[in-house]
Amino acid sequence: MKCTATANSNIALIKYWGKADDKLFLPTNSNLSITLEGLNSHTTVDFSSDYKEDMVNIDGKNMEGEKKEKVVKQLNLIRNIANSNLKAKVVSKNNFPSAAGMASSASGFAALTVAACASLGMNLDKKQLSIISRQGSGSSCRSIYGGYVEWVKGKKSEGSYAVKVADENYFDIRDVIAIVEQEEKKVSSRAGMAETIKTCPLYKSRVDAAEDNLLKIKRAIKEKDFSEIGKIAEFDCLLMHATMIATIPSLLYWSPATIKIIKLVQEWREEGLESYFTIDAGPNVHILTLPENEKEIVKRLREINDVKDIKSCKIGGDAALTEKHLF
Ligand code: DP6
Repeated sequence: MKCTATANSNIALIKYWGKADDKLFLPTNSNLSITLEGLNSHTTVDFSSDYKEDMVNIDGKNMEGEKKEKVVKQLNLIRNIANSNLKAKVVSKNNFPSAAGMASSASGFAALTVAACASLGMNLDKKQLSIISRQGSGSSCRSIYGGYVEWVKGKKSEGSYAVKVADENYFDIRDVIAIVEQEEKKVSSRAGMAETIKTCPLYKSRVDAAEDNLLKIKRAIKEKDFSEIGKIAEFDCLLMHATMIATIPSLLYWSPATIKIIKLVQEWREEGLESYFTIDAGPNVHILTLPENEKEIVKRLREINDVKDIKSCKIGGDAALTEKHLF
């Protein structure tokens, strides 16, 4: 049966950077993100006896090698659960540049998981979908839900899943993304986090701090305290990047433009334009702000030459099935 799903990307406010179990994708610390409206993956999956092998097409290109393998591995996991040996055709489109710190793997694996499970006739709840999605790409388990979403780290596979902390309508904050580079990053998150765990002596301190920051940010979300949310998110981002930079060899994902924007955000804040930054494993800067400041921030970013594109996102909703098939 042909099934199609869409899922939004997400940006972590408390980051996931490291696995306690590489095979099961259990994170070293529980983490939390907001789902981003309008940055999405749209994926059609058809399992059928008509196909002799799996076919994977992303953004108009037939995938081969490592990228195809990651998708096939996820299809195998889902086939195993459903007890099926049918091959699949997968067609997926992202409406934003992939692999430049904009988490296309998060929306991509969430949409793939929802569409593939439905295509094999499995009737799963969101918790089960997040457990399966997690094993394709960790951060994707959070994209099963909209709103503010926690990934509970767990000690075994069934204990590691996403939960909705607050709905997308609970507290309206915005993520204005300054895109300074659109090329694929040289070291993937997957490879990078494994190196950090192995070689960075600061690693454990950041994991301990992340657990504490997670409790604090959940309280701030509950209280709709934007300043506190922003401060904690920025701090955790810097803690994660400190461990990346102090990895051997060093993982410096920032470009000069990244630092320029970090400094500007700090200046804007001093002036009273309240905003905070967070950055994934890439050079692009996510600026968290309140709805009333969004326009001004976009205007100021437009004046910076190094900013190649700007995306402004509200908090988005759950991954969902749709009838809009891609083939
Ligand atoms: C910096 O989820 O892409 O974006 O589980 O190996 O697929 P794998 O890694 P991935 O890593 C995301 C890292 C991050 C932080 C985050 O989203 O929490």
